Amino acid sequence: MPATVILGAQWGDEGKGKLVDRLAEQATWVARFQGGNNAGHTVVLGEQILKFHLLPSGITRKECHLVLGDGMVVDPWVLDSELNGWSDTTGEDPRGERLFVSERAHIILPYHRYMDSLDTKIGTTGRGIGPTYADKINRVGLRFGDVAEVLNDGEWAKATVQRMNASLDAAGSQERVSVEGLMSDIEWIHKAYHTSIGNTGLMLDNALKLGEHVILEGAQGCLLDIDQGTYPFVTSSVTSRGNASHGAGIHPGHVKDVIGITKAYITRVGHGSMPTELEDEVGNHLGTVGHEFGTTTGRKRRCGWFDAVVMRHAQRINGFTGLALTKLDVLGGLEELKICVAYELDGKEITELPSTASALARCTPIYISMPGFPEMSLSEWLAMAVHANEAGKGISVLPAAAQQYIAKLEAIVGVPCTSVGVGPDRDATIDCV
Ligand code: GDP
Ligand code: IMO
Ligand code: MG
Repeated sequence: MPATVILGAQWGDEGKGKLVDRLAEQATWVARFQGGNNAGHTVVLGEQILKFHLLPSGITRKECHLVLGDGMVVDPWVLDSELNGWSDTTGEDPRGERLFVSERAHIILPYHRYMDSLDTKIGTTGRGIGPTYADKINRVGLRFGDVAEVLNDGEWAKATVQRMNASLDAAGSQERVSVEGLMSDIEWIHKAYHTSIGNTGLMLDNALKLGEHVILEGAQGCLLDIDQGTYPFVTSSVTSRGNASHGAGIHPGHVKDVIGITKAYITRVGHGSMPTELEDEVGNHLGTVGHEFGTTTGRKRRCGWFDAVVMRHAQRINGFTGLALTKLDVLGGLEELKICVAYELDGKEITELPSTASALARCTPIYISMPGFPEMSLSEWLAMAVHANEAGKGISVLPAAAQQYIAKLEAIVGVPCTSVGVGPDRDATIDCV
């Protein structure tokens, strides 16, 4: 079986966790390949709401092996607390049994968090992501595979602490790190993770050669990609298809399906323009009915109409083989649905995303209008999805206006929908037939 890549096609929070949990039923491995605990992925199993920041969302499937891959930045304390939470609910400690951390993944240390806490420009999650990737690119980062080597290396610790304190001082931070603190952190990380650190790329490659199914779980979304996103209001990693196999340590030839996840509207957390942003009743409707609050920081997500300019860009970068549409239910009750098909920029109509933040800020959306469909309760949507899947009816069970809306999105993006989400629950997804 080949690998399947699951990617956010917008500014993150499209519902990756829910889809990965669903598809992981058919997989034996789920690997994260970039980002860190800036991610917040939600899985809803009836009354139980699980939120994952580092643990791959396939952890819900007992047969699934889990990888924190080469391209990630991992905060070992956050991982530990997530693992403790998991063990409290299930009694399982998957470390070294079915959870493996790449020897190439970089470690987020307190220093990186202190540096990130100084951010006022981007509206980061404050989790130390950017500073850890900066150290990686500067080739001074600490990787899980280095931990055993630096364990008793006082010279390394001294030089590292000197470098970190000089940076903190230059950045105007009052925080400082110490040699003793760093050495004791390294000792703890070694103790906590030495059984689970390994060559995870090789593990995935071997699994694929044995015909097993691997899911590569993206974090963030295409518009937050460091190269292809709305720079500088982006995250510090490549969130796109090109990095899915690379960041997991396997070659791109293993990948067959690439599913782009998109909400039926759009949201964004943090700074930076979002041309279709709505600060009116419709925006309130989307935020309230969709419970649009950040899974990691709890910040209110900014909401707007579906933006086809964004999706065209995401499709060019990622070549999705299918779209997973989520949160269609949230549009229920709106009389009119708008889709942004182009922008007006300095008096001209454009259909491609501009590359600079200042140009994006001057863009105003050009909309087409579609009829809305009635509101329903979450339990009604859930029942509809269960019935559609059991009877093999696909989206034909949806109101005609909802089907028209989906058909329009498919036509604009040029990619078929593989599933349509109609509620947060694992089973509130209609498989397209
Ligand atoms: P991720 O970061 O892409 O995994 O997405 P998040 O978990 O941060 O945010 C998505 C939110 O939408 C979560 O609260 C999900 O439970 C919820 N969600 C996912 N799919 C649907 C859907 O189809 N309908 C509704 N109403 N909620 C959904
Ligand atoms: P998931 O995987 C939504 C945003 C932050 C900020 C910018 C940079 O749950 O979709 P960072 O801490 O990465 O340096 O912040 O990126 N951001 C996300 N927004 N979902 C996420 O992850 C995000 N991860 C980072 O809000 O604007
Ligand atoms: Mg999220």
